[in-house]
Amino acid sequence: MMNSELWLVVPAAGIGQRMKAECPKQYLRISDRFILDITLSRLLDSAPFKGCMVPLSAQDHWWPDSESAKDNRIQTCTGGKERADSVLSALHALDEQADDNDWVLVHDAARPCLHPHDLANLIDTLFEHPVGGLLAAPVTDTLKQAGEGVTPEVEQTVDRSRLWRALTPQMFRFGALRAALESALENGHAVTDESSAMEFSGNMPLLVEGRADNLKITVPSDLALAEFILGRQ
Ligand code: CTP
Ligand code: MG
Repeated sequence: MMNSELWLVVPAAGIGQRMKAECPKQYLRISDRFILDITLSRLLDSAPFKGCMVPLSAQDHWWPDSESAKDNRIQTCTGGKERADSVLSALHALDEQADDNDWVLVHDAARPCLHPHDLANLIDTLFEHPVGGLLAAPVTDTLKQAGEGVTPEVEQTVDRSRLWRALTPQMFRFGALRAALESALENGHAVTDESSAMEFSGNMPLLVEGRADNLKITVPSDLALAEFILGRQ
C-alpha cells in the first residue's frame, strides 16, 4: 500500500438545471474566475496527485476558455448521462495509467470551497484503509418526515444523531470503485455518490468529518454564499 498513487476525478459534465443560469454552473464566475478553475487549482495545489481527469459534456464549449485547459496536470474525457456515468468514463479514461490499488479522489466541480485542511485530513485518515471513505458533516437541523402534498403534515421527527450529509471528495481504491460503479449501473441502482456504489457492493466506507461550509453550488443563492466562504478562507 506504500506505493499507492493518488488520482483525481472532477466530474464537470452536468448542465446545472437547478441553477437556472445561461451556462452550466461550473462556468459561472467568482472573483472573475470560473468555479471549475477555482475548484481544480485548489485541489491540485494542495495534494500530490499523479494525474487528474475531468469528464466534460459533449456539448461543452466553455472549457477552451478556462485556465484549466492550459494546465498540463489536467486531462479531459467525455462524461455521461448521470454523474455516475461521468465518473465511470473518467475511470475508464485513466485505466491505462492507474493501478487498481491506487487511490482515486472524486470531487464535484461545483464545490469550490473545499478547505485544503479537509483534503489533507481525508487523505491522511484513509491512506492505509482497505476501502476508503468520504468527507461528511453531521446533520444539524431537526429533521421531519413528511406526509403527502405541498404543505404536508409532519409524520414524525427523525432521530438525527447518526445522520450525516455526504460531501466530496470521496476516496476509494481505483479498481474497487470502477467495479462497484460498473455493477451498480448494470443493476440499475440509483448512484448519487461513489460511496453508495461501494456500499451496494458490500463495502463499508468511513465517514471523515469535514467542514459544513464545503457547499455544493446548486441553486442561485449558493453563489453569493460560496463567494463569502472563499473570501473568508
Ligand atoms: N455531473 C457530471 N455528469 C452528469 C451530471 C453531473 O459530471 N451527467 C457533475 C456536475 O457537473 C457537478 C457534479 O456532478 O459538478 C454534481 O452534480 P450536480 O450538483 O447535480 O450538478 P448538475 O447535475 O450540473 O446540476 P443539476 O442537477 O441542478 O442539473
Ligand atoms: Mg445533477
